[in-house]
Amino acid sequence: MQKILVIHGPNLNLLGKREVDVYGKVTIGEINAGLKKIAKSKKASLEIIQSDHEGDIVQIIGKAKGRFDAILINPAAYTHTSVAIRDAISAVDIPTVEVHLSNIYAREEFRHTSLIAPVAKGQVSGFGKMSYLLGLEAAISLIGK
Ligand code: DQA
Repeated sequence: MQKILVIHGPNLNLLGKREVDVYGKVTIGEINAGLKKIAKSKKASLEIIQSDHEGDIVQIIGKAKGRFDAILINPAAYTHTSVAIRDAISAVDIPTVEVHLSNIYAREEFRHTSLIAPVAKGQVSGFGKMSYLLGLEAAISLIGK
């Protein structure tokens, strides 16, 4: 069975209440339910975490080697700032898919740079909850090969 680690970065626990004009009304619970449904149909297993702390995310990725076949991550604000998360992904060398609810390239300039993208297999940005679902499909298909 394929095992996938899903990481939601800072403030994503507030989805549904947070900047609804940007992120919509979808909650993290609804996103996780959608991911679990896909995982079940593809016979994959998910471990899902949310953290507001960069160091926690770095540690979780660091311990993922040998335990997970792929990582699906929305690094949220750390996308644009975290060399540490980027280095952790690089270090464990687990295929990683980066996702964003909003189209980061259509927003403020500081969001146009992702430090994570160069170490990810790919990125899905701008489709709301669907970014996660497409990202999971991509991760499962990647490791199936
Ligand atoms: C985000 C985009 C980031 O720029 C922002 O800091 C977030 C959410 C997204 O999913 O659209 O917190 O990652």
